[in-house]
Amino acid sequence: MDDSALKQLIKNDEFAFRSNLDRKTLDLVFDKRTLEALKYVFSRYSIDYLDFPISSGKESVVFRAISGRKFVAVKIFKMSTLKFMNIRKYIEGDQRFAKIRIDRNDIIPVWVRKEYTNLMALENAGVPAPKPIGFFKNILVMSYIGTKSGPAPQIRDVEINDAIYEEVLDGMRRMYRNRIVHSDLSEYNMLYHRRVYFIDLAQAVDIDHPMASEFLERDIINVSNFFSKHGIATTPESIEKYIKGK
Ligand SMILES: Nc1ncnc2c1ncn2[C@@H]1O[C@H](COP(=O)(O)OP(=O)(O)O)[C@@H](O)[C@H]1O
Ligand SMILES: [Mg+2]
Repeated sequence: MDDSALKQLIKNDEFAFRSNLDRKTLDLVFDKRTLEALKYVFSRYSIDYLDFPISSGKESVVFRAISGRKFVAVKIFKMSTLKFMNIRKYIEGDQRFAKIRIDRNDIIPVWVRKEYTNLMALENAGVPAPKPIGFFKNILVMSYIGTKSGPAPQIRDVEINDAIYEEVLDGMRRMYRNRIVHSDLSEYNMLYHRRVYFIDLAQAVDIDHPMASEFLERDIINVSNFFSKHGIATTPESIEKYIKGK
């Protein structure tokens, strides 16, 4: 689809006034397929419009969106930059996804479904995280963490204390006991809004995944390094012991 056709689609579409986005952002995120998927998501999940982008990364853009009188978060995965080779290893080897055929050209919907499934698992495990609302194609809808005036900060931007550290450890322990290894845990993927929330779950794997202990080790080291830097007495060994302890 050429650019003028895309512009036409945006212009003619109700979508144009369903977002507060400037052209640059629109062009960055929305190819034709994404626009069509968004249209479906808007109607399926009663979303009125995209409010503003909370974050724009290499592989996804997260928006605050308005749904009636509530906010939700809409995470749109970029079709073009998610690298098949990079994400494949988190899907293959996870027994929960063993029956799913992985198609090089159609792996993103599996990736989105995986984040949704993991968010469900966290909810069941009692780990604070966004509540999964739904997904379609390359789009995930979940509850919004934050206030009217803005999204919750990542924990790297809040003042660290023992209570925060303990909440992180408690969440890690609950995840582990419920067979989940986050696999990209760091101060970027935890938000603080009255308490710690775990986010960004697409790459989280089942504990029987062949690389689960490697991923867990990496998570533990990230967490230990971050809290050490903020004066908390911690070591990777003590974290591991706590997480795996009886
Ligand atoms: N449910 C949410 N509520 C509020 N902010 C969110 C939510 N989900 C993600 N964010 C914000 O968007 C950023 C990127 O989301 P994340 O899921 O980590 O995707 P990425 O793979 O791009 O890192 C987060 O660091 C956080 O600041
Ligand atoms: Mg992230």
